[in-house]
Amino acid sequence: MFDLTGARALISGSSRGIGLAIATRMAEAGARVTISSRKSDACQAAADAINQAHGDGLAIPIPADISVRADLENLVETANSAWGGIDLLICNAASNPHYGPLAGITDEQFRKVFENNVLSTHWLISLVAPGMRARRDGAITIISSIGGLTGSAAIGAYNISKAADMQLARNLAVEFGKDNVRVNCIAPGLVRTAFSRALWTNPDVLGGYEAKTPLGRIGEADEIAGTAIFLSARAGSFVTGQTIVVDGGVTIAGVTGA
Ligand SMILES: NC(=O)c1ccc[n+]([C@@H]2O[C@H](COP(=O)([O-])OP(=O)(O)OC[C@H]3O[C@@H](n4cnc5c(N)ncnc54)[C@H](OP(=O)(O)O)[C@@H]3O)[C@@H](O)[C@H]2O)c1
Repeated sequence: MFDLTGARALISGSSRGIGLAIATRMAEAGARVTISSRKSDACQAAADAINQAHGDGLAIPIPADISVRADLENLVETANSAWGGIDLLICNAASNPHYGPLAGITDEQFRKVFENNVLSTHWLISLVAPGMRARRDGAITIISSIGGLTGSAAIGAYNISKAADMQLARNLAVEFGKDNVRVNCIAPGLVRTAFSRALWTNPDVLGGYEAKTPLGRIGEADEIAGTAIFLSARAGSFVTGQTIVVDGGVTIAGVTGA
């Protein structure tokens, strides 16, 4: 049910963090994976590590900045030429250039959040989905956030963009369903990566989060990978348009965490 042998996967933002964990576990499950981020040396290093651990030729690096449409066109074209198609897409790369109340965000920062977290996801899916739909087989997973389910005085624009990702998945699930292409989101809670370093290195933030979380801790990147594999594999074949929360229970806890 969870075997990905023969599947061709493309994971944006996969040189480190959650994207790298997903790419590594997908390769372990048998998929061929395209590693992508802005830095070609980091992509090469990630692909080398996967090839060394799980078999030569399973991973290829193709650098791309998700905010540059021409980069995404090259990414998809090169991955298609290398593998002959893309069966699984993980839209993982995202940005958050503003920390603080929405009143303090500049238009440029607001646009950046939307361009990187929503518009670029739409671009990448638009480039990959036609091949999936023509083959009548494909699974697309967007890495959203529990921020898309809750309000925040600090990361408001980011949260709006992550809520938009959930709606993007619902819309596209309806559009693509007849062609057997599924679209879902994963909404992680706080995960220990470079992206969230400012939060988990702050003892007050970390302590508050741990106290409110039923599992009593933040997540590790590898703990998001299993859900990505579930949604990509035959195990998830009747799941579409959904957002799966992977957060140690923090969104279902009461105010005190008790
Ligand atoms: N960590 C958390 O607590 C948390 C919680 C909920 C949701 N998320 C979501 O999880 C996803 C991954 O985050 P993460 O925590 O794994 O972050 P991370 O460790 O910082 O990794 C981000 C990855 O994306 C790449 N990237 C960044 N900007 C890019 C761009 N413009 N174009 C292409 N690649 C880009 C980075 O490589 P380069 O810098 O080389 O480009 C890196 O490979 C994001 O969508 C984030 O919103 C994270």
